[in-house]
Amino acid sequence: MTAIAIDGPAGAGKSTIARALAQKLGYLYLDTGALYRAIGLYCVERGVPTGDKAAVTAALDSIDVALRYVDGAQRVLLNGEDVSEAIRRPEISLAASAVSAMDTVRAFLLDLQRDMARTHDVVMDGRDIGTVVLPDARVKIFLTASLEERTRRRQAEYAAKGEERDFDELLREMDQRDRQDRTRAVAPLRRAEDAVELDSTSLSADEVLAAIESILKEKA
Ligand code: DC
Repeated sequence: MTAIAIDGPAGAGKSTIARALAQKLGYLYLDTGALYRAIGLYCVERGVPTGDKAAVTAALDSIDVALRYVDGAQRVLLNGEDVSEAIRRPEISLAASAVSAMDTVRAFLLDLQRDMARTHDVVMDGRDIGTVVLPDARVKIFLTASLEERTRRRQAEYAAKGEERDFDELLREMDQRDRQDRTRAVAPLRRAEDAVELDSTSLSADEVLAAIESILKEKA
């Protein structure tokens, strides 16, 4: 099985690129952020404080997270319920980031991610895929963009769903989340030593894809 790891901060374009690349290669696309979001959603809905490790860890006993693919698109099941849309709510982003800093939560989700890569060719995106989840991935990409550009892209995504988000507020939220993801003790967001860093600030999605495809060719 072949794995391609794409890590980077929020809004760098990971999911757009990973999805398109997976489709081109005929691989499975796995958005690992969705798994942390499912746990964040559970906590928000059940009133489990996302800053309380003991409470979140205890809640894991009542949580089952599973993935399903419908027409090639990933769906996330939380205790059997499809929560693929609910996990995209703005307040779930910070909740996901908070619970993702806990080693218990990361351990809880590790086997699911590795099992998918054991049984399928995958393009997996996240924060620690190249460093922790799949250290032997064939190709590792660390995708970045300036905070302003990432905020613009995220704002456009919300707008496409009919949701208006204030630019400055969204920028602060993304900055806070990245800081949290970069500075946590367990599996922080960072470039793996053998990852190729791509700054997508002034690149189109097609240009990023072309760059990754030429990296793939070089490695083949
Ligand atoms: O990719 P995303 O924005 O949907 O991820 C939501 C949060 O989940 C992110 O702020 C940090 C966490 N996350 C993580 O810690 N490790 C991953 N591999 C993916 C996401």
